[in-house]
Amino acid sequence: MSLADFPRYPLTFGPSPVHPLPRLSAHLGGAQVWAKREDCNSGLAYGGNKTRKLEYLVPDALAQGADTLVSIGGVQSNHTRQVAAVAASLGLKAVLVQEAWVDWPDAVNDRVGNILLSRVMGAEVRLDPAGFDIGFRDSWTQALDDVRERGGVPYGIPAGASDHRLGGLGFANWAYEVQQQEAELGVFFDTIVVCTVTGSTHAGMIAGFAGQDRPRRVIGIDASATLDKTRAQVERIARSTAALIDLGRDLRDDEITVLEGWAGDRYGIPVESTLDAMRLVGRLEGVILDPVYEGKSMAGLIDLVTSGEIHKDSTVLYAHLGGQPALNAYSALFRG
Ligand SMILES: Cc1ncc(COP(=O)(O)O)c(C=O)c1O
Repeated sequence: MSLADFPRYPLTFGPSPVHPLPRLSAHLGGAQVWAKREDCNSGLAYGGNKTRKLEYLVPDALAQGADTLVSIGGVQSNHTRQVAAVAASLGLKAVLVQEAWVDWPDAVNDRVGNILLSRVMGAEVRLDPAGFDIGFRDSWTQALDDVRERGGVPYGIPAGASDHRLGGLGFANWAYEVQQQEAELGVFFDTIVVCTVTGSTHAGMIAGFAGQDRPRRVIGIDASATLDKTRAQVERIARSTAALIDLGRDLRDDEITVLEGWAGDRYGIPVESTLDAMRLVGRLEGVILDPVYEGKSMAGLIDLVTSGEIHKDSTVLYAHLGGQPALNAYSALFRG
């Protein structure tokens, strides 16, 4: 099957906007930097990268007769907020396991931002004390069983909608969308920079771009601080997605690049380079990044451009994957 043969339920406004970041590019003094904006890709609770992935999972959920979407993430998970929004818009229920992925002292961490939005949208929110892990959890299995016991039909969506047969398709399609937008705009992005944690955003891009004639670098910036798990998950999902869309060849190892250096020691805890990147892009471009994901991938982009690792003649596309609602849970960082 080719990608176009997979059913896609529209949850986004259409192709997400692509635009240059001229003041950031001038400031960095190297490559030309553009952004593609998944943070404003949908009218469903601010959208984001998961909304694109869910476009390919929803037809499967509906075909199975599901009445409840069950998913898992941290307390400030962007993913579970997007699951809540998609469930609401489809007239389905949502059960969300929210784990204590980040030991963060902000007093309202479990009350504002993403978790607040999920509650507003009517999701059943279950707080769970487990720490950060992108793998499968008993609490998630329990939530699925509970829905069945109540007579419901659950549809399980793993963390980040990643470790799921269809999880890579949303961003394989993103790669084709980029190609079309390049033709319209008359540009070619030789380098893509993307944040990676549960892996299917980056993995889907790798599989999608691998089918195109003109080679380019797809650089994943790790924000998990559990690099080996994330790298293994990106590789596995990239290969399974490539097979699913009939790429017709194996992916080469050099097509899969996950760089470390900007995550700090722990998932969800910003470091100095994260906050510097957030302030720089906010002040130069009026573009808001979050301290968990996009601040870290932008810190990576800044260093790669200023060090010349991304060449001066490059045109870079920064994938802005969303995540701003979590900023409310980090207010203490920006009081001064
Ligand atoms: C805003 C944001 N950026 C990046 C990511 C990373 O994407 P993925 O989990 O598909 O690697 C996520 C979700 O985990 C996210 O919510």
